[in-house]
Amino acid sequence: MSEQAHHDEFYGENADFFQSPLFQARHRRDAEIVKRLTPTNARVLSLGCGEGGLELDLAADVQHILGIDLSVEAVELARRQAAQAGVDNLDYRQADVVDTELPGESFDAVWGLAFLHHLPPSMVEPTLRRAHDWLRPGGRLVTIDPSNRRLVRHLARFVKDSYDEHHSPDERELDPEEVITAARAAGFSDVRIVWTDFATGPMAWLRPTMPRWAARTVVAIDSAVVRLPVIQQYSSGYAVSAVA
Ligand SMILES: C[S@@+](CC[C@H](N)C(=O)[O-])C[C@H]1O[C@@H](n2cnc3c(N)ncnc32)[C@H](O)[C@@H]1O
Repeated sequence: MSEQAHHDEFYGENADFFQSPLFQARHRRDAEIVKRLTPTNARVLSLGCGEGGLELDLAADVQHILGIDLSVEAVELARRQAAQAGVDNLDYRQADVVDTELPGESFDAVWGLAFLHHLPPSMVEPTLRRAHDWLRPGGRLVTIDPSNRRLVRHLARFVKDSYDEHHSPDERELDPEEVITAARAAGFSDVRIVWTDFATGPMAWLRPTMPRWAARTVVAIDSAVVRLPVIQQYSSGYAVSAVA
């Protein structure tokens, strides 16, 4: 199944999934990280925006967001949700980020939230190069991806069926060093990593129906553990921020 077909099917059938307590908790955590790293009053480009939930939450904190996604279903859902919420500074385009045309130096921030790890390995650096070209000098790149160094990978064989159901054939966990090296090669400076979680991300996909109190507990434990030196590098996910 192609990347686009997988996501069309996923977004077409799983609108309720995004309302689960743990998915919402994960979503709030990502929104806090992204908000902290994004310049104020920014013109934002969001690569692989999916159903646009994070864009909707952060719309009031930025000037404008253009979200781009391969999936027709995701873009329709994103547009519908923005219209229902009466938010008018969000625009969405169905396109492949790899070959879409945009004017240079026209954004203050480029987000790639759970996006880069869906690209073929050979496309990560060229895509970051494009992101660099689209950013004004001094603009900010913010990415979030799952890590291939994650501690929980040792448990992967016990949850293979659930994993396969929610993951596209093309995606992979991405080495944080690969993103850092590619960002520097693409021309970014001040490249930094922020560890996000051990359990929140994986469990949001595997056990989305967990009750609210349990979701809160997972998030609280996670936010303490990601601060522990040395251990944090085995986190399940990470954000990278970099300056163009
Ligand atoms: C895991 S989802 C992330 C969605 C959203 N950013 C979030 O954080 O929930 C990855 C998204 O990237 C999109 N995608 C994958 N490859 C793409 C490409 N080459 N161009 C545009 N979108 C792409 C998929 O359609 C999917 O919606």
